[in-house]
Formats: sequence, C-alpha cells, structure tokens
Amino acid sequence: MFPKASLLSLALLAIGALGQQVGTQQAESHPKFSWSKCAAGGSCTTQQASVVLDSNWRWLHSTKDLTNCYTGNTWDSTLCPDDTTCAQNCALDGADYSGTYGITTSGNALTLKFVTQSQQKNIGSRVYLMDTSDAKYQTFNLLNQEFTFDVDMSNLPCGLNGALYFVSMDADGGMAKSTNNKAGAKYGTGYCDTQCPHDLKFINGQANVEGWQPSSTDPNAGSGTFGTCCNEMDIWEANMNGAAFTPHVCRGTSGGQTKCSGTDCGDSPDHRYDGLCDKDGCDFNSFRMGDTSFLGPGKTVNTNSKITVVTQFLTSNNSTSGTLSEIRRVYVQNGQVIQNSKTNIAGMDSFDSVTDAFCNAQKTAFGDTNSFEDRGGLAAMGQAFAKGMVLVMSLWDDHEAGMLWLDSNYPLDKSPSTPGVARGTCDSASGDPQTVESQHASASVVFSNVKVGPIGSTFGH
Ligand SMILES: *[C@@H]1O[C@H](CO)[C@@H](O)[C@H](O)[C@H]1NC(C)=O
Ligand SMILES: *[C@@H]1O[C@H](CO)[C@@H](O)[C@H](O)[C@H]1NC(C)=O
Repeated sequence: MFPKASLLSLALLAIGALGQQVGTQQAESHPKFSWSKCAAGGSCTTQQASVVLDSNWRWLHSTKDLTNCYTGNTWDSTLCPDDTTCAQNCALDGADYSGTYGITTSGNALTLKFVTQSQQKNIGSRVYLMDTSDAKYQTFNLLNQEFTFDVDMSNLPCGLNGALYFVSMDADGGMAKSTNNKAGAKYGTGYCDTQCPHDLKFINGQANVEGWQPSSTDPNAGSGTFGTCCNEMDIWEANMNGAAFTPHVCRGTSGGQTKCSGTDCGDSPDHRYDGLCDKDGCDFNSFRMGDTSFLGPGKTVNTNSKITVVTQFLTSNNSTSGTLSEIRRVYVQNGQVIQNSKTNIAGMDSFDSVTDAFCNAQKTAFGDTNSFEDRGGLAAMGQAFAKGMVLVMSLWDDHEAGMLWLDSNYPLDKSPSTPGVARGTCDSASGDPQTVESQHASASVVFSNVKVGPIGSTFGH
C-alpha cells in the first residue's frame, strides 16, 4: 500500500483496561469470526475464531484512575514524560466493538463501518484474526496455497480503502520481545507494515511519545520518532472503483517486526527508497495495467454486488518448500469464474499475474523505482510467509494522498496519459478525508467466507 495513514484513537470518557499495561473498565470480548480450512478436493472444515481491534484505536488511560494518557492527538505530559514511563503508567482498555467502532460479525462475515458516532466520533478500524484458542494471532503460510474470500464493496465509494492483507507481526503481539508489553495480541498490539508507520502509540513495549507531532489534518493521529516495519502482502486494497493486490518486502528485518528510526524508516520523499522496506510494492491494479473496463460498478467484475476473490501463491516446484514464483488472481461472481485482466501497456508483454518478470517490466514501463526487486522480490515475500503472517482487515481513509494512488490519477503533477498515472475513475478531489468523512460517513465494507487450502480447493466446488 501507499501512505497507509492514520488510525484514530479515541479519547473515551468511559470506563476500564491495560497501557501497554491492561485496564479493566471494559471487558475485552473479541467478536466471533469463523473461516474455513480446505483440503485438496474441496472439503472444508470450519475454524471458530475471532477478531481483535488494533491497540491504537483503544482508550488509553492511567493505570491508577481514568485520566486519559492520550486525548485527540496529544499525550498527557504528566503520565507520559518519556517513552518508558508512559508505557508503565498507561493501560489499554477493552473495546465496545459495535457501539464505539462500528465493527460487527455474524458467522463468517465481518462488517467494518466507516464513521461511528457515539460519545466520540470514530473513523475506520483495523482488526486481526485471532487463532482458535483466542490467545494469539492466527498465522498463515500461503506458499503453494490459495486464499479466498468474499467482499461486498457496494457501499464503499472513492477515497476509501477496504483492505484485507497480511503482515509479519509477532503472533503474540510482541509480548515475548518486550517485557513492558503486558497487553499483547488480546489487545491488538504489535502492528507493523512496509510503510513503517510512525502513528503507533506503542512500539516494542515503549510509548512513541518522544518527538510526537500531532497531525495537522487528522484530529486523532500524530507521528512519533519511531516507526514499525515489516513485510506486507496486500491481497486486497479496494473500493467500488478500483482494486489492487500488491506484495511488499523489507530487508534487514530478519523477516519480522522491526522498530525503525531515521533513514531506515524511509521517511520523506527524499529517503522513500532508502528505508528498510519497499513502500511502493509491485501492484497489480487492472485499471492501471490498461484494462479500464474490468472492475467497477457494472463492469466485468461488478462491484455493485458481492465478489469472490481468489489469490494463489504458486512456488517454483509446486511444493510448500518451494520459492514463491507467481501470485495469481481469479474472481468468481454469480457462479462464473472470471480470469484476471491482462496487462495492456505499451512496451510491456501481456501479464495476468504478479511475477518478478511482471514487476520488472511494470517498473520499467512506468519509470518507477524498483524497490521491490531491490529487496528480494517474490522470493522474499515467500520467505515472509514461511515464517507465518497475520491476517489484517481494515477500513481507512488517507490523510496523505487521498487514496488517489488506488482509484484516481497519481501523482497529480504528471499527465494522466503518462503510463502508470491513471489508476481509476475517481475524481482527484474525491479522497479528501474531510469530504469522505462528512459525505460518506455511513460507508462500510463486508469481508466474509475466508477459505484457505491447496491450489484449487477453495472455489468452484
Ligand atoms: C506445477 O504445476 C503446474 C500446474 O499443474 C505445472 O504446469 C508445472 O509443470 C508444475 N511444475 C513443476 C516444477 O512441477
Ligand atoms: C522445492 O524447492 C525447494 C527449494 O529449492 C527445495 O528445498 C525442496 O526440497 C523442493 N521440494 C520438493 C518437494 O521438490
């Protein structure tokens, strides 16, 4: 993904939990969410699991009373004079998933609402799949496997991103690594991705308060000195007007979550390509790759109704131990299997999947820096899966770039006719957070029917 911005954190008035300690005002009860493990031939078994809200959205208050440690986008200077003291003084509390955050589940379906107005106003959310014992995050190795889910984006307009993806978070939320982190996966700690985000309030058991700058546009977010990096496989970043799937990899992170500072985070346009991680990724967006009639309202893949999205992770020798060599995409809608679109870009061969050859040809054709192959390309993405990756589902708007990199023209200082600039039909003003939050507050996305299994086992049966 591109600029993956900002989570909102709430200043709640209410009641109980743990900081990176744990508070007790509101019991933490994860919404139930089931998914299926399939076997060759297509028989599937249901896994009864749950989802957990990321820690950044939670009420953070004093371990001694209900004083907020963080309100709006600023920290309490008494409770949080420095990173260590703050982690000891502050507790993360349980979440009212539906009432405060607009997160609901039913069977194998998860609905994320965009704006939820209760005592506070919440914008978007990010959840992780827990394992069936509800103790840690579920981890996945998709080498030589297929990952399938249904998505309903009919209520998800321009400027929003309903995302389903994998990151190399620690399964325990980083508890074992950091003795100050008493909250762990149960409270949604330990997030990381290839943008090496700085908006996390805690990283590795320390607060991120030193050097914190409140956002100038987002009343609920800011950025601290440190970022948190790791590999990321975006299976789905989309709204009804555009979709992309995008592997991103990092170097120097030993495959796992890594705290960064300075150049390693790849901050500022000047150092975007000097950081540990590949922020651009190698994206397959059908519109950007030259088929403007493939996905959207009324198009071949019709986003006015539910879509089944199949993603296959093929390896060099058709075995789990092989090297990741190709990421294939198939859609199913109304019982019909729809093959992915083919690239139609001057100077590029025809591709319908992500391979290293596709990435190299695309970066050359578009004149983009090839930071994906510089950091190991698909083989590195496969190594990340071999170590286990965590499933993330989120809904967000974009304070950095209005999601234009997904559904409009980007960057705006280049002609839309320059290859690679046009990515979707959305207007260049459509993704302004103020606009989407006021005009599309009731937007939502539904993810359901997650299935994982050997190639060919999860659809068409
Ligand atoms: C892997 O499977 C594909 C599809 O069945 C086949 O075309 C290919 O030859 C196989 N590759 C190897 C190395 O066995
Ligand atoms: C697949 O390839 C990997 C890496 O080259 C190798 O270690 C493994 O033994 C191979 N597996 C099979 C079943 O051929």
